[in-house]
Amino acid sequence: MAKSRVVYVCQDCGSEQSRWAGQCPDCGAWNTLSQFVEAAAPRAAVRRGGYAGKVAALQTLDQIDLAEVPRIATGYTEFDRVLGGGIVPGSVNLIGGQPGAGKSTLLLQVMCALSQQMDALYVTGEESLQQVALRAHRLGLPTDRLRTLAETGVEAILEAAAQVAPRVMVVDSVQVVHCDDVPSAPGGVSQVRESATRFTRFAKAAGTALFLVGHVTKDGTLAGPKVLEHIIDCSIMLEEEGDSRFRSLRAGKNRFGAVNELGVFAMTDRGMREVRNPSAIFLSRGAEIAPGSVVMVVWEGTRPLLVEIQALVDDSLGANPRRVAIGVDQNRLALLLAVLHRHGGMQLGDQDVFANVVGGVRVGETAADLALLLAIVSSYRDRRIDAGLVAFGEVGLAGEIRPVPSGGERLLEAAKHGFTRAIVPLANAPRKPVDGMEVTGVASLAEALAAL
Ligand code: TYD
Ligand code: MG
Repeated sequence: MAKSRVVYVCQDCGSEQSRWAGQCPDCGAWNTLSQFVEAAAPRAAVRRGGYAGKVAALQTLDQIDLAEVPRIATGYTEFDRVLGGGIVPGSVNLIGGQPGAGKSTLLLQVMCALSQQMDALYVTGEESLQQVALRAHRLGLPTDRLRTLAETGVEAILEAAAQVAPRVMVVDSVQVVHCDDVPSAPGGVSQVRESATRFTRFAKAAGTALFLVGHVTKDGTLAGPKVLEHIIDCSIMLEEEGDSRFRSLRAGKNRFGAVNELGVFAMTDRGMREVRNPSAIFLSRGAEIAPGSVVMVVWEGTRPLLVEIQALVDDSLGANPRRVAIGVDQNRLALLLAVLHRHGGMQLGDQDVFANVVGGVRVGETAADLALLLAIVSSYRDRRIDAGLVAFGEVGLAGEIRPVPSGGERLLEAAKHGFTRAIVPLANAPRKPVDGMEVTGVASLAEALAAL
């Protein structure tokens, strides 16, 4: 007879420990371990013959039917894009974000739209049905087909789901639902994990695409992030961009698509509106451009995005000059300063250097190197850079400018937004001229500075 196992799970990092401790040995957080009773797997059956007759026929991969399961298009292209091209039937998706980010609003809009073509079930444990109905009405959404349920009991929700057999289903949120037979409070690791597991089992069996809403704790992590990580197929974060009404939607894990896709929405009085041209937002520069500002084209998933990179170089008052990087990697900044010194003859050892990407965008690409470097030079020399100039390219330790992926598309995006000059890696310089744009290909730091 298999016994259930007691483990202690860290609420922060999700690691499992065999005994309780005041501090998580893995992430070092205090008072985060809580007990979790794991139902036992039938181990004994592994013994010879134990599974005889119970194993499904083994197959090689080429025997498996590859009939493509059509994805469900929601009509919200930004949303579909982040999911990797629409909703995958039977997939389990987690939508995370801070309270007020717009998770409920976005999902309500998506579900109302989908309910016009298929069975859809919207379960809310956080709001009353009246509140949901009022919101849908105010946003002018079609409400006649969407099935709704206000419930927090997992068993009751699954019962309703079994009746409706929806093709898409939302549970808002995973932190308020509870299984009666799990002896801990909603929101705790045991409850969240067990509820998500049961919903997932249902979704996989019924082929229902499931969206679980998850709130994020203050430090930006989903309560017990690792707890759900291995259960779900896709984890999406809805985040506020800076302090504005813009919201970005990003996949952190996606079994069915790329993870670096970006979808942009604006929270308006008519709900969440898609922003089809995000470059225009992140690039709201005034007519007067100060020294130290350079525009670059980052590649976000499958599309280019224009962002402004700023640098401020100033005499340092302390013994240790400051190196502050926001939106770009700190080490990258240090590396660029070293390259600038060694290969550009520019000594910034007695200067504070601040770097920032405007609009709260985070740029992880090395393609930002060249733009950042030019911004530093511009600020140091106190000379403004032509407003019509964009730059991108990776800078190597030998002072060489290395090519980046999708150079052509980046240039087209810049040209579309009225940029007239570009400094790019030589290997990215297009053979055919780009309309209305003068492109300078550079192979080294010295050439880039000369082109400037
Ligand atoms: P909501 O979807 O409830 O956020 P979440 O489910 O992520 O907690 O959105 C709440 C915020 O959005 C709230 O502060 C009000 C604002 N909002 C608007 O500005 N316009 C609207 O049309 C709606 C429905 C909400
Ligand atoms: Mg909500």
